[in-house]
Amino acid sequence: MSDRFNTAAGWALFAGIIALGGGIISSKMFHSERPEPMGYEIAGVEAEGDGGAASGPSLATLLASADVAAGEKVFAKCSACHTINQGGANGIGPNLYATMGEEIAVGKGGFAFSDALKKVGGTWTFEQMDHWLTSPRSFANGTKMSFAGLSKPEDRANIIAYLNAQGSNLPLPAADAAPAADEAANAAAPADEAANAAAPAENATEPAAK
Ligand code: HEC
Repeated sequence: MSDRFNTAAGWALFAGIIALGGGIISSKMFHSERPEPMGYEIAGVEAEGDGGAASGPSLATLLASADVAAGEKVFAKCSACHTINQGGANGIGPNLYATMGEEIAVGKGGFAFSDALKKVGGTWTFEQMDHWLTSPRSFANGTKMSFAGLSKPEDRANIIAYLNAQGSNLPLPAADAAPAADEAANAAAPADEAANAAAPAENATEPAAK
């Protein structure tokens, strides 16, 4: 009896050791790491936040705090094709002096603009310039400007402020007054309450008036 018990206990112990060892080995063998970017990439779907104006401060707000000197640095990306001094020569791209506020793809010493850009029409407003510099190709499909675009909203705001400072000097759009408007709304709320409180009094006087 005790012999059999010992044998059984021995097997149980042995099985336990094997199970434990097996577990350790298999965890080493099948050691798996979570893939870094979790989830699947879906082809054709663009990552969020890339040049998206949907989130973050608005263009007007960014322009209000734009840094012209920083914009001049960003312009290094453009200077291979553009001059910006007054009366500067056209290169691969047109001279950009006083372009803000000007008609799109017009003038510039007879620069041969593409039909794609000429078709856009209108003038270079802050918004239009922001769209153009986000992605020239999506602004004017078929444009001759082979430049991918500036994905950072701050870079665009800075360079637009710089462009504007070169001969255009359009007044900057008013920055969003979002927090102020909120405060105003909150301040208006008690007034609403007051109006509600006044309502019963009005009703109360109604029968008397009749
Ligand atoms: C590889 C050369 C190249 C680079 C780099 C480039 N551009 Fe251009 N740009 C062009 C060409 C070419 C055109 C004319 C586009 C057309 O006609 O379709 C153009 C047109 C423009 C226009 C329109 C001007 C008008 O009078 O309507 C603006 C504004 C402009 N570029 C700004 C920029 C800025 C700002 C940068 C840098 C962030 C930049 N470009 C970088 C080649 C370039």
